[in-house]
Amino acid sequence: MSEHLDISQGGKAEKYAALLPQIASVVEAESDPIANMANVASMIHETFGFWWTGFYRVAPLPDGSSELLLGPFQGPVACIHIPFGKGVCGTAWARQETIVVPDVEEFPGHIACSSASRSEIVVPVFDAAGAVKAVLDIDSRELAAFSDNDVPGLEKIASLL
Ligand code: SME
Repeated sequence: MSEHLDISQGGKAEKYAALLPQIASVVEAESDPIANMANVASMIHETFGFWWTGFYRVAPLPDGSSELLLGPFQGPVACIHIPFGKGVCGTAWARQETIVVPDVEEFPGHIACSSASRSEIVVPVFDAAGAVKAVLDIDSRELAAFSDNDVPGLEKIASLL
């Protein structure tokens, strides 16, 4: 089992290494953030075959606070509004750090947009001032699909946006 895991993670590292320069060249050629999030979601999704790959953007609310609002994604229809501190996405926003969830049923307050989702990773996207402007959310139908091996590649992708 561990041998099988090592092989699959090795394949992932190669995929991240190939994907990063492709994403960098796409993002450098375009300044519109939504267009770039759309293409980045597609490139990650197509490369790894995840269940759901997309962005939630930090968006203002009428009362002056903010929420996470569904942005460009690939995969099934998803929840549109996520409050600060709620779910994996809202928690990653509040903590300003990447969260790896090997089993979504073990994460208190997980928001189940799709009952098929079993594991998840959420990576904050920061603006130039260091504030979270979006989160990159990826879901898998497999348990423990994400590990520390995914964190550097996805954080590097987030830093390009
Ligand atoms: N599961 C996420 C909600 C977003 S969907 O997975 C697309 C969460 O708990 O924040």
